[in-house]
Amino acid sequence: NNDLLLDNIGSNEKYPINFSELEQAAKEKLEAGPFGYIRSSAGGEETYRKNSNSFEKYSIVPRFLTDVSALNTEVTILGRTYPHPLFIAPVGVNKIAHEDGEIAVAKAAAKFNYPYIQSTVSSYSIEEIAEATEGSSKWFQLYWSQNKEISFSMIQRAEAAGYEAIVLTVDTVMLGWREEDVRNQFSPLKRGFGQGNYASDPVFMAALPDQSKDAIIDSMIENIYHPTLNWNNIEELREYTSLPILLKGILHPEDAKLAIEKGLDGIIVSNHGGRQLDGVIASIDALPEIVEIVNGKIPVLFDSGVRRGSDAVKALALGATAVCIGRPFIWGLASGGQAGVERVLENFLQETNVSISLSGARNLEELRKLKIVRS
Ligand code: FNR
Repeated sequence: NNDLLLDNIGSNEKYPINFSELEQAAKEKLEAGPFGYIRSSAGGEETYRKNSNSFEKYSIVPRFLTDVSALNTEVTILGRTYPHPLFIAPVGVNKIAHEDGEIAVAKAAAKFNYPYIQSTVSSYSIEEIAEATEGSSKWFQLYWSQNKEISFSMIQRAEAAGYEAIVLTVDTVMLGWREEDVRNQFSPLKRGFGQGNYASDPVFMAALPDQSKDAIIDSMIENIYHPTLNWNNIEELREYTSLPILLKGILHPEDAKLAIEKGLDGIIVSNHGGRQLDGVIASIDALPEIVEIVNGKIPVLFDSGVRRGSDAVKALALGATAVCIGRPFIWGLASGGQAGVERVLENFLQETNVSISLSGARNLEELRKLKIVRS
């Protein structure tokens, strides 16, 4: 329904609505370093541009006269039913955008029923976020630590706090080549952001002889990037936790196939919003072949470049089980704290719902049968 749109038209209130307006509003609030860190991507940002632009290659061919008065967007993933297929992608170091950081995002997510995927490098800890958002759906994103006992400790904490799944990010074995951060001389980790889960971790802290702020930062950075990460680690992880495990950052159909063979529970098709390897395939272009090879065996979530409801509709119609957004909510956070995130999430949800209905689908099953043509 269009209540939100019509209410807002009647409100006489001016606020950023679409992605570029939100980005502009955030730019006015933030210093160059944090703004550049969030906005920018790797290399010449070819993949960043392709992520969003590639949606234009896919066109929706809608059906009409289908009575779309009752929309049901429920989706069941790994045994749990969520009211709609929109998720919060794991984004670290949220305090660089706003003092309330992840707490504000997770609260807004809870309000609009977006499952929240918390980053390993959050400014606030697993327990702090769980406490602030009791009862809402949360997953934990893991950067596998050089010292695996630290990873296991964080998983245990996520399990104890009621998180529903582990998302292991596989595309960040080292930091992407991000020139904007060199230009701005900005590293959020080096500035001391993103230690919420490390500084509160008993195993991490016990392994530190010197517990000064500098020592915590150095050890955290050393632990996060893990170039030897390989399928054996996945087996260790599989044995360690009974929570469902999803791999985030899958782009090749063969890796999707391996994920199924290794007993993983799901994947997230993503190129990290273009922040890791520049020149890689746009996430939406990688999706169809992966969906085909996975053939419904495990859920295939999707992110990178989703900016509006019609993008979500295209990803869902091409077979994504659910869609995550990253930068849009961070821009909302930067420009307006929790209220800013709420506005982004509410608008995105409504735009997606309107777009599904206008395509003629009444539920996600019908949406998957929607005709999409590629130009
Ligand atoms: C990210 N992303 C990310 N991914 C992850 O697995 N762990 C993390 O800590 C982070 N941190 C992070 C910080 C910032 C500032 C951004 C912009 C992104 C990647 C994120 O989960 C997601 O893949 C992308 O943001 C999706 O692309 P869009 O929606 O930003 O285009």
